[in-house]
Amino acid sequence: MSENLSGQVILVTGAGRGIGGAAARLLASRGAAVGVFDIAADLANETANAIKAAGGKALAIVADAADRRAVFDAAAALRDAFGPLTGIVNDAIWIRYGPVEGIEEEVLDRMLAVGIKGPIWGVQALLAHRGDKPASIVNLASPAADLGMANTASYTSVKGAIVALTRQLAVELGPQGIRVNAVAPGAVPTPGARAIVDEAGYAKRRAQTPLGRLGEEDDIAKAIAFLLGPDAGFITGEVLHADGGISVKSM
Ligand SMILES: NC(=O)c1ccc[n+]([C@@H]2O[C@H](COP(=O)([O-])OP(=O)(O)OC[C@H]3O[C@@H](n4cnc5c(N)ncnc54)[C@H](O)[C@@H]3O)[C@@H](O)[C@H]2O)c1
Repeated sequence: MSENLSGQVILVTGAGRGIGGAAARLLASRGAAVGVFDIAADLANETANAIKAAGGKALAIVADAADRRAVFDAAAALRDAFGPLTGIVNDAIWIRYGPVEGIEEEVLDRMLAVGIKGPIWGVQALLAHRGDKPASIVNLASPAADLGMANTASYTSVKGAIVALTRQLAVELGPQGIRVNAVAPGAVPTPGARAIVDEAGYAKRRAQTPLGRLGEEDDIAKAIAFLLGPDAGFITGEVLHADGGISVKSM
């Protein structure tokens, strides 16, 4: 396994399980020190302990990505443990699907708080706690940012904003040596996704995907690791689709 992320200090939100968990483990296996940030204490500790048991560097951080103060405190704790931050993966999400006419205000507020405010707090915390090395931000987008799908109005709003934010920040932060990219995963049956997509939904997604299979958490983790690493040194403002081709299929 290459150690091409050695020397990096990366905060991963939503790192307790799913794509964020796989990314945290992969980044650590490639030499990064990882802040395993999750609102669920058991999940954050489980992932951090697995990384440490495998010989990697991890700090479990139990906090809410929507809480600006908590995100800054997390970045400060990670810096104290391992040195200035070189990257952040904005993965945490809180989702409720449903028809647009039934969207309730408090549900929408929470989705926007975790899904949009959270990444902005993450970027601010990286800026406050980075050193003078180049840095990199990876946001989790979705093909849903570009394609309509029934009952996902609030989710597509969040992910559309994330794509716009990614491109905008690439322009704003590039002169400071910070690359900003996004990964748009196809259908990956993570614990969170399984709670909202049933077997019939997955059969449909599998059939619609040109590569003929669902994504695995590691498929997405590898794309995240690539964007954080030196091989992506001239890539910024990019939305990398790791989706088996579903986003380029017309019928
Ligand atoms: N799984 C897919 O098919 C898919 C497809 C496209 C995009 N994505 C995106 O990938 C990312 C990860 O999705 P996933 O399927 O792995 O999700 P998941 O629900 O399996 O995992 C999300 C993690 O985030 C944590 N979390 C939730 N709210 C939090 C908060 N406020 N603060 C900190 N942590 C919080 C959860 O405890 C959990 O560990 C999301 O941004 C999602 O939108 C996923």
